[in-house]
Amino acid sequence: MKYDKTNRTFDCEPTLTDSQVLQFCRDGYIQLQDIVPDEINQRTFDYLNGDLPINPSYIPKGMTHADLERIRDTHEPSSILLEDWYIEHVLLNPQLAGALRSVLGKNVGLPVLVSNHRVECPMEAQPWHHDADHVFGPEINFVEVFYFPQDTPLELGPTELLPGSHLSPTSRDISEKGVACNGPAGSFVIHSQSILHRRGESTASGLRHMLKYSYWRTDPPTRDWIHEPDFDFQMAPYGGHGVARYVAHMFYWLCGKGDEFHLIGGQAWPWSSTNQIGPSYGYGQSNGYLPNWRKNNPDDYAVG
Ligand SMILES: [Fe+2]
Repeated sequence: MKYDKTNRTFDCEPTLTDSQVLQFCRDGYIQLQDIVPDEINQRTFDYLNGDLPINPSYIPKGMTHADLERIRDTHEPSSILLEDWYIEHVLLNPQLAGALRSVLGKNVGLPVLVSNHRVECPMEAQPWHHDADHVFGPEINFVEVFYFPQDTPLELGPTELLPGSHLSPTSRDISEKGVACNGPAGSFVIHSQSILHRRGESTASGLRHMLKYSYWRTDPPTRDWIHEPDFDFQMAPYGGHGVARYVAHMFYWLCGKGDEFHLIGGQAWPWSSTNQIGPSYGYGQSNGYLPNWRKNNPDDYAVG
């Protein structure tokens, strides 16, 4: 692990494989469960409840110790990002960092702002929503991370996600369920900020914390995660009708091959079915269309 304290970046070995990176493109999220030591989860919980004195590793320019104390008690307790124990065991958690390094490239930028989704349970479910300022596109220039510092069973209303909803505007009725991010203390969800989500309904009593922040890219994308020798760009499972083109474009962009991506329509690559007897036509075309990320063409293709 290389931590650059001055630039607030880190670098490490990527841990995801081709298939796992493609799955992230398809689902829009990755869950990592129970990977932070209990003592650190507890310390986070105490810090957020104001039961620990703050001890920042440095005071950012233009701020004072009193500012950091004040910030700790808000819904954006970003002063926790300056605690050495939090940096080492949470921000730079080895499993989390390896996955982030895989999708964000070298020298990943560290978060500067924390949101604490602090809920006094029980509480009804939130409506489904895409967060403000989301963007639909093939680029993965940043990802958002949820950190659950306490056991978060279904009764405490963990975040719910709708897999694959990071690709285009999606709506869902409040009565419909998604995939719940329940798990033991020390669990993370790495996800596209564009994914449809909500706070789930909670039925137990008590205070629930969940911290949310973004890591970001500083280096152009390239396929430098773990290669699978038999990974096949032509036959890879990009998804079904209307979806595969977006997933494949995202994957190609991450590989640094966004410029080589062209669609010709119909049953053409990257769409495929398990029932076909040979590869889809249209792979490796030098001209064609792009997915219509901006939703301004009725056939859902954009000029390539
Ligand atoms: Fe939200």
